Amino acid sequence: MDRIRIRGGRPLHGDIVISGAKNAALPLMAAGLLTDDRLILSNVPQLADVKTMGSLLAQHGIAVEDATPDGRRLSLGGAITNTEAPYDIVRKMRASILVLGPLLARTGEARVSLPGGCAIGTRPVDLHLKGLEQMGAVFRLEAGYIHGSVAGGGKLAGAVIVLPFASVGATENLVMAAALADGRTVLSNAAREPEISDLCACLVAMGARIEGIGTDRLVIEGVPTLHGAEHSIIPDRIETGTYACATAATGGEVRLIGARLDHLGAVARILRDTGVDVDEDEQGVMVRRLSGLRGVDVMTEPYPGFPTDMQAQFMVLMSVADGAAMVTETIFENRFMHVQELNRMGARINVHGASAIVRGVSSLSGAPVMATDLRASVSLVLAGLAAAGVTVVNRVYHLDRGYEAVEQKLAACGADIERLAD
Ligand code: EPZ
Repeated sequence: MDRIRIRGGRPLHGDIVISGAKNAALPLMAAGLLTDDRLILSNVPQLADVKTMGSLLAQHGIAVEDATPDGRRLSLGGAITNTEAPYDIVRKMRASILVLGPLLARTGEARVSLPGGCAIGTRPVDLHLKGLEQMGAVFRLEAGYIHGSVAGGGKLAGAVIVLPFASVGATENLVMAAALADGRTVLSNAAREPEISDLCACLVAMGARIEGIGTDRLVIEGVPTLHGAEHSIIPDRIETGTYACATAATGGEVRLIGARLDHLGAVARILRDTGVDVDEDEQGVMVRRLSGLRGVDVMTEPYPGFPTDMQAQFMVLMSVADGAAMVTETIFENRFMHVQELNRMGARINVHGASAIVRGVSSLSGAPVMATDLRASVSLVLAGLAAAGVTVVNRVYHLDRGYEAVEQKLAACGADIERLAD
């Protein structure tokens, strides 16, 4: 398994091009199941999860081809020939559950392996199933698989659905199913992440009728069929926030090319509160750290609150701030695995239930550390960049799921970072 070695203590200076958003690309690829026509996606990030979604769709009968040699433009098309999503793919990527709504909407049946839990939590899919049941789906769980069909062998029907929690994945599954259902669906307490607005924009381009995009109340009028479209994926706001934290933690100045400040929500505000300059310019977002860092408390919340996917990265920043900060994780039940690794690097973090108290130290020190999940992995890279000495991050396959060319992008800004292939 590859490792990444970092010799820290060097401020980052330069430009980083932000890739397309992983958490937009995955549902957008699943939308390829909603039509036999060609769906062309551009600004596709080169990530392991995108390749996994491509192989999942291919075994459903959807050809996923590179429309350009660099793989940043995908052409999806074809008829659904298989409605089973097998365990050996689903276990690698939980976002596979996003084929459930489209398969039921198009074919009236689906056999999707239950995605097991993962490092950060149990990750149930009950909200996906309950919403689809309200639309007429019938489910039974057997041998680790979700067997879904539509009552009476007909089509899904529009429904009035209130999500008890603004689940991102449940919102995406239900919107895609509703786009082809008979009648109107009203989805209240829908998640409002930019990735959902991006999915809705693509569905509208495919002929879907969706009102309330960007709000927590989506009204979808089902249509008989959807046609092909071309769609460019929004930039990755979590990659943007990650490199902003890297810049702040190392005391540098970096332009994040292609980033959208309006998608950063609370991240920009919180970074400014810590004393970091975050400004928009014609090429993207400029991040500068000109003075010391202040400790700032954060609580993760659904968009537009502070994203859970930025919690680990922000904790690194608070580890080298002046003073203390409380970091509270409200979305997932076990998303502090990076804490013990950061403490091995000299951080002073105490976890009390869903909150962690971070007491800033003058400097972290490099050490061999273990990655456990995607965002924890990148937080260890950020800590290595800020630390004195050498850090080796093990199990970087977690990192490759969600960050494209991470060592190249950081090395181009002066980081002493290299991948050690095993
Ligand atoms: C999406 O996961 C993202 N993944 C996650 O990013 C992100 O952390 C999460 O949204 C929250 O923003 C993708 O978009 C591919 P949820 P998802 O449904 O859809 C509970 C990353 O690092 N829940 O909003 O799974 C669930 O257990 C990944 O890029 C239910 O209880 O998130 C969790 O506690 C990690 N029942 C909370 O809601 C359900 O049916 C948030 O889940 C669904 C969710």
